[in-house]
Amino acid sequence: MTVFDGIGQIGEVNGDGPLINILGEKIALGPFERENAPDLHLWLNDYAVMRMLDFLPGPRTHERAESPWDGLLAAEDNVAFGIYERAGWKLIGFSVLLYVDHINRSAEFGIAIGDVAAQGKGYGTEATVLTLDHGFTALGITNIMLRVFEYNRVGLHIYEKLGFRKIGTRRKSKMMGGKLWDTIYMEMLADEFESPVLRKILSPQASL
Ligand SMILES: CC(C)(COP(=O)(O)OP(=O)(O)OC[C@H]1O[C@@H](n2cnc3c(N)ncnc32)[C@H](O)[C@@H]1OP(=O)(O)O)[C@@H](O)C(=O)NCCC(=O)NCCS
Repeated sequence: MTVFDGIGQIGEVNGDGPLINILGEKIALGPFERENAPDLHLWLNDYAVMRMLDFLPGPRTHERAESPWDGLLAAEDNVAFGIYERAGWKLIGFSVLLYVDHINRSAEFGIAIGDVAAQGKGYGTEATVLTLDHGFTALGITNIMLRVFEYNRVGLHIYEKLGFRKIGTRRKSKMMGGKLWDTIYMEMLADEFESPVLRKILSPQASL
């Protein structure tokens, strides 16, 4: 595995592992590659995952699962990370910063731990923090917002715990299980975030 080891150098740790950009404690983030599409195909056929995302639950062919991803990867204003479990280096999900606007310094966050067996182990919380670290610290974004459906209790819990603030509610804007639900909008500002990893790597003094 090729990994940036925390002081900006690249270290060879294990020849078979994935390429890693940001090393966390329990998970790590690396580029979400086109070759990861088969995993995405699995996750986007899981009703338990899809009901929390902007997808209609149901059967998705390879083409339908991969086509939104092609657009996502191709768009220069999007950032997409694969989330790897450090114990075994399995790809368990993805996190994104969408609509990265370098003039207004804003972006929208999204995440899915698509491997349901990997949920509830603290991975989503840590992946959120590391993705925010990329947005705020590496890209210099000031405002990161997200949307979460009102029935996503776990999502709401971790976003509130990490310091996202609710900025509004779009009422009855998500159909799920035969009922319309609210969409909650939340945001975080850069000065409300403490960088866990990248500040010390990106500091101009890091190589001195
Ligand atoms: C939402 C998601 C990213 C969270 O990641 P995760 O790895 O499962 O979550 P974590 O293990 O990091 O944290 C779960 C937290 O929710 C809490 N929790 C669990 N069940 C809960 C419930 N019913 N109500 C409120 N909180 C709950 C846990 O106690 C834990 O909090 P704690 O660390 O303070 O104890 C992940 O579950 C996921 O991808 N879900 C499907 C897609 C999705 O919802 N994406 C987000 C769309 S906005």
